[in-house]
Amino acid sequence: MLVLAWIRGALGPGQCPLVLGGCIGLRGGEVRCAPDQVTWQGWPLSRRHQAQHLHPLRLKRYSIGTTVLLIVRSYGRPITGGDMGQFTRRQILLSGGALLSTTCVPGLARGASSAGIVRPQRMIRADKNENPYGPSRVALQAINEAMDLTNKYGVGHRRELVQLVADINEVPADHVILSAGSGEILKTGGLMASWDKGSIVCADPTYHDLVRYAGRAGSDIIRVPVDENMAGDLGAIRKAIRSDTVMVYLVNPNNPTPTIFDRDELRDFVLEVSKDRIVFVDEAYFEYVEDPRYGTLIDLVAQGHKNIIVARTASKIHGLAGLRVGFGFAHPDHIQKIRELKTGVNNVLGIEAAYASYQDMEFQDFARRKNRESMAIVEAMFEELGLRYVKSPTNFTFFETGIPVEELNAELREHGILSGRPFPPFTTWSRVSMARPEEMRYYVQTFKKLFASRIMDSAA
Ligand SMILES: Cc1ncc(COP(=O)(O)O)c(C=O)c1O
Repeated sequence: MLVLAWIRGALGPGQCPLVLGGCIGLRGGEVRCAPDQVTWQGWPLSRRHQAQHLHPLRLKRYSIGTTVLLIVRSYGRPITGGDMGQFTRRQILLSGGALLSTTCVPGLARGASSAGIVRPQRMIRADKNENPYGPSRVALQAINEAMDLTNKYGVGHRRELVQLVADINEVPADHVILSAGSGEILKTGGLMASWDKGSIVCADPTYHDLVRYAGRAGSDIIRVPVDENMAGDLGAIRKAIRSDTVMVYLVNPNNPTPTIFDRDELRDFVLEVSKDRIVFVDEAYFEYVEDPRYGTLIDLVAQGHKNIIVARTASKIHGLAGLRVGFGFAHPDHIQKIRELKTGVNNVLGIEAAYASYQDMEFQDFARRKNRESMAIVEAMFEELGLRYVKSPTNFTFFETGIPVEELNAELREHGILSGRPFPPFTTWSRVSMARPEEMRYYVQTFKKLFASRIMDSAA
């Protein structure tokens, strides 16, 4: 077995393994590699191609022509990253890092420059809390294989997926329901509350799906401002509960403020409050959190507590947002009610992808590691500029710029970055989702160039 390592600067992060892998592949060999080394954005590998031929990574298809071409490209362009042919090595060195960071966004850097910043070719999606690495390789392979089933009703590992997720969370399978994204469970929960003609209490700001839907269906929404640390205030929420309150909606970690509830305080609160009403806990970002103070409430559902509903999703760490897979965990009576009210049906691609992805622990570790890397890059900027921010255990963060967020977003968009929408009343705060580390380096460079002096001036 040959173990290969390479220096990033010598060739590009994608080129070196590709060239070496191509050579090995030509000799009939096989290459196995870590997940981050096969996500070659910008290279002539379609996702489908990756899924089919890179798991395990087989590069038999690479011809000498491709390999030679890549070597030529490597020599011609000292740093990888799409069309960077307009820069010489001297220009890159003289740019003192700003340009370099741009060039490290594979396949992104290109196009007109404004304010001295090279605009990415593709928009950087720092606005929707997605996993920038998309579905894992095994999920992509499962999607590929399921393509042939898409003309049929009721196929795929639906039952097995429910059983798998039940087993992972140590809850009986009849306490789990599959949904079209967790958004469907959220909306169904909101509908249940509004049919009972009751009010719903939630933190403010928080995720909108459940409360907005219930509000439109006639529920009174009682919003309780987050505390001075931007966290949900359980004491104030308890006080806000009225006799007609049929549901308390808690998002843990919260969105847009990425705060968590202390595990023990939350349990005490939920055990007390759920005696008379439903407590709905949205754990969309559960898999990202590594803080020991954090804990799920699914075990309370498993113990038979009746008025607790927990929602989870495959949209976040599993990177399956576009395939709409989510889960509700509740007592079988509530599961039955949700089943009667919900309108969505899962498609076979989502089911198969999730079934593969929930077994792929390596990908989740990888996504967490990359997320930490990206977060460190952004937090370093907050510290450097002295910006107030919420320390985040998730894949997005929230920070105060002092600039109206629409204005900030318009300028970022001009430079190829999508950033979180306004979250009143925090209209001079920005929610930024973690894209890939190389993209966040570009984000930081761009943000500083556009806003640092304005922020410093207003602070002075
Ligand atoms: C807290 C929270 N819950 C639920 C969702 C909905 O996710 P999905 O419907 O894709 O599962 C989101 C999406 O961003 C979210 O932030």
